[in-house]
Amino acid sequence: MNEKEKNLHETSKKKSSAQEVAEAMAANIQVNRQNPNFVNERERNLQEARDKVFANRKIIRIGLIGCGGIAKNHAFSISLLENNARQIWKWKDSSQKIKPVLFALADIEGKKVEEFAKHFPAKKIYKGLNAGYELIDDPDIDAVFILVPTAYHLEYVLKAAEMGKHIFLEKPAAFSPEDIQKMIDARDKHQIVLQVGLVMRSTSPIYYLKKLLSDNKDKWGSLTNIIYRDSQQKPYTGDPTHPSTWRKDKKIAYAGVLFEHDIHDLDGMISIFGEVDEVYAKIKNFAGYEGIEDSVAALITFKNGITFSMNCMWNDLDYDCRRYEIFFEKAKVRIIADGRDEKLAEMFVQYLDEPEYEIDMKTMDDFFFKKIGMPHVKAEIPGPYYAEDLRFIKAIVENNIESEVKAEYGKYVQEVIEAIYHSNEIGKVIKFKEGKS
Ligand SMILES: NC(=O)c1ccc[n+]([C@@H]2O[C@H](COP(=O)([O-])OP(=O)(O)OC[C@H]3O[C@@H](n4cnc5c(N)ncnc54)[C@H](O)[C@@H]3O)[C@@H](O)[C@H]2O)c1
Repeated sequence: MNEKEKNLHETSKKKSSAQEVAEAMAANIQVNRQNPNFVNERERNLQEARDKVFANRKIIRIGLIGCGGIAKNHAFSISLLENNARQIWKWKDSSQKIKPVLFALADIEGKKVEEFAKHFPAKKIYKGLNAGYELIDDPDIDAVFILVPTAYHLEYVLKAAEMGKHIFLEKPAAFSPEDIQKMIDARDKHQIVLQVGLVMRSTSPIYYLKKLLSDNKDKWGSLTNIIYRDSQQKPYTGDPTHPSTWRKDKKIAYAGVLFEHDIHDLDGMISIFGEVDEVYAKIKNFAGYEGIEDSVAALITFKNGITFSMNCMWNDLDYDCRRYEIFFEKAKVRIIADGRDEKLAEMFVQYLDEPEYEIDMKTMDDFFFKKIGMPHVKAEIPGPYYAEDLRFIKAIVENNIESEVKAEYGKYVQEVIEAIYHSNEIGKVIKFKEGKS
């Protein structure tokens, strides 16, 4: 065989082996097509490929218990966290790809949960008297949001902790500081995250206020007075703006405007000024629902000597508005949170006779998110609920069971509120944490 013949022979060998492979593949495809397991095999291969891609993805499946007013804020925030997960947790650099998902909804009232699910769809829906417990029992769920009237918080928290679920709990955490301690003990025993919905701690103007005070300490002189007043339309009338009625029932709500509403603001000031020294209060009840105060005038003195006067009321005016005025020897700061205004809150500063100026929300938000070390993905969306939900997921990811908004803060503010109620009962100043009278 000469060289040319040899080459031809090799080429024909190659051709025939290529042909063989092509024929074998075609035959295999034919065989596979006839194979009843072909589809399953294909699915299995796809699943394996998917598993590889998602191996380091941590999906946090969230269940909401209670689909009423505040649940909307949380469901919206969770959907923001879900949709922006890649950006928030910077997937490219992260070894774990975090994704919180609104997974289940529960409410004792079937109609409420069905209506809610039209706006915030979830994979599982639980209805009826045991709905909350069924959701807690669901092994697919990693974290629960407890968004029901206060009377039902304790049982849900203890059960959820026992089942190893992380817990976001709306304020007021429980009826008494002792019950909050039981929750803290359950958190520590079962090593789950427990965060309380004291949303002022995730509200950027309140957070920013602390910075302002420290930046201007020397310039503004001493802080002389903090005046706070809040007027809220009765939140229990059953009208379309206030569809719930439980807030007038002591057995479900425990107490009135201070406990249910202005707990936020008292806690916000505690977050800035620290421990309380003394309280004195006059409390009234005009609407006549037993144990549900609708007028509070309280004077709180912090251990650093700063006095904070609170006036809180529930009335029939269509006027939901919180105002803070913080006076210094040479300056003043005003914070206005008007429920009718599109802006969440406005903060104004005046120094001596210079014109008053406003601090824009972006500055305050940027500062807040930088401080908590997380990105603010949608600056145009007002976000204290988003911010607190983000911190909750962050606590789960970092395995920080106390979270940045500790249940201990919830316990402390409720101890102060108890002291305020007690001061009213006995008509005397209460030295806080030094006996009840
Ligand atoms: N952080 C805030 O700014 C803020 C604002 C409003 C309410 N809250 C708190 O959130 C909680 C809920 O308040 P809301 O205004 O949403 O009340 P809501 O009445 O609007 O909604 C409560 C929902 O829970 C359901 N529910 C009642 N008992 C239940 C139970 N045992 N199990 C399951 N579902 C039950 C009701 O059917 C209702 O749909 C309260 O603790 C309240 O103080 C916090």
